[in-house]
Amino acid sequence: MIAHLGTKPFMTNIPHDSASKHVSGESVYIDDMLVNEQLLHGHILYSPHAHARIKSIDTSAAKKLPGVYAVLTAKDIPGHNQMGPVIHDEPCLAEKEVLCVGHAIVLIAAENEELARAAARLVVIEYDLLEPVLDIRTAIEKGTLLAPPRAMQRGDADAALATSPHTIKGELETGAQEHWYLETQSCLAVPGEGREMNIYSSTQHPSETQAIVAEVLGIPKNEVVVEIRRMGGAFGGKETQANHTAAWTALLANATGRPVRIRLFRDDDQKITGKRHRYLIKYEAGFDASGKIVALKFEQNADAGCATDLSMAILERAMLHADNSYFIPNMQVIGKAYRTNLPSNTAFRGFGGPQGMAGMETVIDRIARFLKIDAALVRKVNFYGIDKDNITHYGQEVELNRLHVLYDQLSASSEYSKRRTEVNAFNAKNEFYKKGLAFTPVKFGISFTTTFLNQAGALVNIYKDGTILVNHGGTEMGQGLNTKIAQIAAAELGVSLDRIKVNATNTSKVPNTSATAASAGTDLNGMAVKNAIDKLRERIVKLMCDEFSKIDPDFPSREIDIVIENDIITDLSFPDRNMHFAEAMLLANLKQVSLSATGFYATPNIGWDKQKGWGKPFNYYSFGMAVSEVLVDTLTGYVKNLRTDILHDVGDSINVGIDIGQVEGGFIQGLGWCTTEEIKWDAKGNLLNHSPDTYKIPSVQDIPEDFRVQLLQNAPNPNAIRKSKAVAEPPLMLAFSSWLAIKDAISAVGNHEYEPHFSLPATNEVILLSIEDIRKKQNKS
Ligand code: MTE
Ligand code: HPA
Ligand code: MOS
Repeated sequence: MIAHLGTKPFMTNIPHDSASKHVSGESVYIDDMLVNEQLLHGHILYSPHAHARIKSIDTSAAKKLPGVYAVLTAKDIPGHNQMGPVIHDEPCLAEKEVLCVGHAIVLIAAENEELARAAARLVVIEYDLLEPVLDIRTAIEKGTLLAPPRAMQRGDADAALATSPHTIKGELETGAQEHWYLETQSCLAVPGEGREMNIYSSTQHPSETQAIVAEVLGIPKNEVVVEIRRMGGAFGGKETQANHTAAWTALLANATGRPVRIRLFRDDDQKITGKRHRYLIKYEAGFDASGKIVALKFEQNADAGCATDLSMAILERAMLHADNSYFIPNMQVIGKAYRTNLPSNTAFRGFGGPQGMAGMETVIDRIARFLKIDAALVRKVNFYGIDKDNITHYGQEVELNRLHVLYDQLSASSEYSKRRTEVNAFNAKNEFYKKGLAFTPVKFGISFTTTFLNQAGALVNIYKDGTILVNHGGTEMGQGLNTKIAQIAAAELGVSLDRIKVNATNTSKVPNTSATAASAGTDLNGMAVKNAIDKLRERIVKLMCDEFSKIDPDFPSREIDIVIENDIITDLSFPDRNMHFAEAMLLANLKQVSLSATGFYATPNIGWDKQKGWGKPFNYYSFGMAVSEVLVDTLTGYVKNLRTDILHDVGDSINVGIDIGQVEGGFIQGLGWCTTEEIKWDAKGNLLNHSPDTYKIPSVQDIPEDFRVQLLQNAPNPNAIRKSKAVAEPPLMLAFSSWLAIKDAISAVGNHEYEPHFSLPATNEVILLSIEDIRKKQNKS
């Protein structure tokens, strides 16, 4: 018996499965879910101080308020007062000490929002104020290291620096970033019978949400079910920190025996959740006259906030991306994470990669300005080679290196050289408007660097009418995972897409999953679904062999070849012997064939030694490049993105529309981090910009006037499902092209004689100060 896969061309132009529902408003989010009249409103009372000892908490008056059903403190937690995902250093409710503004202390369940807030005002908490640490430099001074420093190295950077023809050294500060998912942290907890707790949580990581709810309630995991249909955006902000809202909601539901919902107010969400980690990066580089780097040292210092959360994994990824796309023979990267009194910082698209790569791109740009050669050429001489100079500073070979083909194609399609000349001509003629141009690459490792997390599960059910329900462990947050999974399932089974429905993610269907993160959602879950379908197809083919052979006079001398394509199951030797898929499923049921299968996948051939910082952490690399041109008004600091050309490698795209959307969205989100999104805290640790009126995420006006996004063609990836590649995070870092184009425009103010001071984000203020600095230097000389 031989099963043939269908030959039908794979359809890659399918719209996102929720697109029309989003537009019509039919998409259901946690806040839209209908519950009975028992539903209570949950509220969190949090610390107004960045660091303080709690002397006393008096909730008696709040408890007496009619319509208030629960007022809980740490003492009322039936299980463990703990919600740290990796290290248990995050109490669910503060007991003796608060470590940041936003640290939860008291939970309230009431009939409505107003009553809950009224009750909160009646709670009296006395504090002894302590000195907070609010920035990295102070943290370094006070030595608030979260864990021992980490190191990765190859060659001897110090020795090579000592003999380098030229050297530069300096520091780069990169800013925080607020996730600004449209749906704030939300959870609905519905108690079942006995100890059962049903959780509907806007979470990227249902299995961990389940674990933490079980932990705080003191019940086993098999009593907790977590379900999520879709998130209204997450971007890493719901990888661990959705657990908090879920734990609080579950505690209130458990205490009251009623359904409770919490949906954080936008301002509260911004104040109390973690951000992208701020980094202070120190560097020292040695290079020759062509710009080739021979020695490089980085010290990366991360502001972790008040708890560990994912900071050490994020630091690790920052260190693993300190090379970006370049072969540096002698390289040393030291990484340190420090505790500060801010909400614990967390995953954010790129997961440390952006910070690590910003350090490298700064070094390249500075070398180019030092040598007065085009930065694109300095990049090119340092790219990883194809056959040699292709081992990273942590020992992984850069296989299927697409850097050179991307560089060549994008140079041509963006007319980079010609536009460089035009930009120079424009700048020579204009005093107050300056243009800048930059060409930057991205190389991003795909896999969780914590190797065991690279696993996924699925449960595929076929029903008697021939329709299919696919369950998998990934979560939909807008990135199009469920659409891609449905496409994969349809193609692997040989049936039409409209037979497939992808279920809401549910821990009782697929257990013990990893977060949907590290851009690997489709890679991992797609393979797990394929694994389940392979099993089902085998059973179906066997059934049909039996069936067709009954009417075959030559049986059993003939091999039967079966193909499932376009919903028809056909005996290839006798094509008129065929059966519709739906009919065959009815038959399968009559013949007692199971039509439900689980699937599993674990990424093969990866693994590395974290202690030594050496090995193969990644399944493969994702590559992309961008050329951006900006116009800077040197009197106001205003920037206009004139044009961005992107060429990005997603292997054989599973869904072109979704992939281009991810590339565009990632770039624009990166642009926000690089230019307008500046987070400010006051001297007491209060977040100053906690709503869209003061926190500037990109708007339509920030999209490049001329935005040309292309996917690299004919570049199949042998290492992932259907020869595709992950897309999600890498494009964010293409925004360095715009960031460094701004620096180029500033540099033009002093005719490229003086190097601009620069940091990230390059806000209007940073731009103006940098220009002012250049003008001062000009006046002096
Ligand atoms: N796209 C949308 N629309 N919304 C999101 O929240 N999150 C990003 C990215 N793209 C996100 C998104 C992040 S941080 C990751 S890791 C991936 O999607 C996760 O999904 P994937 O692995 O299925 O690509
Ligand atoms: N990326 C995203 N999330 C993660 C990772 C990672 O490498 N490791 C643990 N959580
Ligand atoms: Mo994405 S930061 O890995 O959730």
